[in-house]
Amino acid sequence: MSPAEHADAPAAAPPADPARLAEAFRLFNQVSEELASAYGALERQVERLTAELAAANAETARLREEAERNRRLTAMGEMAAQLAHQLRTPLAAALLYAGNLEKPNLPEDTRLSLAHKTVERLKHLERLIQDMLLFARGEVLGRETFAVSDLLAELAQTFEPLARARGVDFAVGTAPPGLEMTGNRKALAGAITNLLENSLEAVPVGGHIALGVTAAEDRIAFTVKDDGRGMAPEVVARLFEPFFTTRAEGTGLGLAIARGVARAHGGGIDVESAPGLGTEFVLTVSRGSPVEPME
Ligand SMILES: Nc1ncnc2c1ncn2[C@@H]1O[C@H](COP(=O)(O)OP(=O)(O)OP(=O)(O)O)[C@@H](O)[C@H]1O
Ligand SMILES: [Mg+2]
Repeated sequence: MSPAEHADAPAAAPPADPARLAEAFRLFNQVSEELASAYGALERQVERLTAELAAANAETARLREEAERNRRLTAMGEMAAQLAHQLRTPLAAALLYAGNLEKPNLPEDTRLSLAHKTVERLKHLERLIQDMLLFARGEVLGRETFAVSDLLAELAQTFEPLARARGVDFAVGTAPPGLEMTGNRKALAGAITNLLENSLEAVPVGGHIALGVTAAEDRIAFTVKDDGRGMAPEVVARLFEPFFTTRAEGTGLGLAIARGVARAHGGGIDVESAPGLGTEFVLTVSRGSPVEPME
């Protein structure tokens, strides 16, 4: 090593003082132990907080479930009250008519008329109960594959005579050729029939009702358009509520059921209406409909 190199070399470290080293080690150990114990405490705190969070989550889930159950019970309670109200009116009328039948010396035509009215009210009751059952949750619909043109033809056949009898023009569009879908044909026919019946109730003599169908990708849309009285926004807002009706003879379940059927087919119902101008309902379904339980 040259003297110059020697001069550049760093000064050697002073000899270690064993006492200070020992002290440094002791301190180091002490700090390590403190750190380890702090870490342990932290870990326990994290564990406790995690457990608390899990408990809070479980409580939230329980509360949510309870709220949902209460909501269902309230809805059921309201429905039961409405149903009782709906059942009471025709039942009271039927009882009244039937009671009158017991009167002695009734002329034959009066007796017949009373019997007829009794049966009418009882039929109304029966229909109400059938509709209720259809509306009830969890109804599982069967499925089949059918030509949409067949469904349209069936609807035309049942509805044409009704429209003619009321002096209403009824036009049916044509389905795209070869268009098929999978779903519950009977339930769909029932849902579309209700839309047609609603239109028939809303149009005057000489009015027009048109049933059409269009297909796009995997969806099919059935449209029912009328130039009837239309609806005010506050009626549109309540359309799908079970038992909402503006007709003395209506059960108010028609649209609630129709929407349930559309939803069970992976679709829904849209409506556009203007008072005095008319109404258009569009019921969409998915072509390869899942057909889920009705809501
Ligand atoms: N095309 C329409 N034009 C005018 N109002 C309509 C039309 N469709 C439905 N409505 C209104 O919506 C209400 C509810 O219809 P919905 O089919 O649910 O019951 P409803 O026809 O009264 O009774 P139901 O169908 O159970 O016999 C009707 O009472 C009516 O006021
Ligand atoms: Mg109806």
